[in-house]
Amino acid sequence: MKFFVDTANVAEIRRINEMGIVDGVTTNPTIVAREGRDFETVIKEICSIVDGPVSAEVTGLTAHDMVTEARSISKWSNNVVIKIPMTMEGLKAVKILSKEGIKTNVTLIFSVSQGLMAMKAGATIISPFVGRLEDIGVDAYQLIADLRHIIDFYGYETEIIAASIRSVQQLEKVTKLGAHIATIPDSLFEKMSSHILTTQGIEQFMKDWETFEKREK
Ligand code: G3P
Repeated sequence: MKFFVDTANVAEIRRINEMGIVDGVTTNPTIVAREGRDFETVIKEICSIVDGPVSAEVTGLTAHDMVTEARSISKWSNNVVIKIPMTMEGLKAVKILSKEGIKTNVTLIFSVSQGLMAMKAGATIISPFVGRLEDIGVDAYQLIADLRHIIDFYGYETEIIAASIRSVQQLEKVTKLGAHIATIPDSLFEKMSSHILTTQGIEQFMKDWETFEKREK
């Protein structure tokens, strides 16, 4: 199971990366816009911090525009992956890019058929959005399980990134269902690492140790 950080905030990426459990980064236009910095500068900086794949999304809507943008972005760094929206034009672009050896992450996946089409086009990664499916009352976990089953059954090389993860429970569920990767907002790492019984346990250990030390003196 790989952990990606879902942010374009360089300070947060550095902070989380120090734990040594970050395998990559994902961004999208919303996330990059939030930083108010130049797209190319931010992506290049992230690629220099993290060894693993860094997803950068195209904004063109035609296959031609997506491919043109993707070719240019792919030159920014060896570890950049081109994020392409799940549309018919997007699929055309993915097919062309995969033939050129450019890695792609097909994003905004909400159904089995969308995932399957992206796999067939040669997507390196597909990004089903868990939180947004749950927002509209759809079983996102069945989708993750189905996509994983299809990959294994038919032998596709595509990996699943469970995206739009907002809670520890969501993260734990997609892990158990076989998502290859989860992309996680930086704020969630703190919550994932803590448990009330861990906090209480440390407090108790420290208290007992102080009592023991005082008695020994
Ligand atoms: O990875 C996709 C993610 O950034 C979307 O998350 O919370 O906006 O649905 P959210």
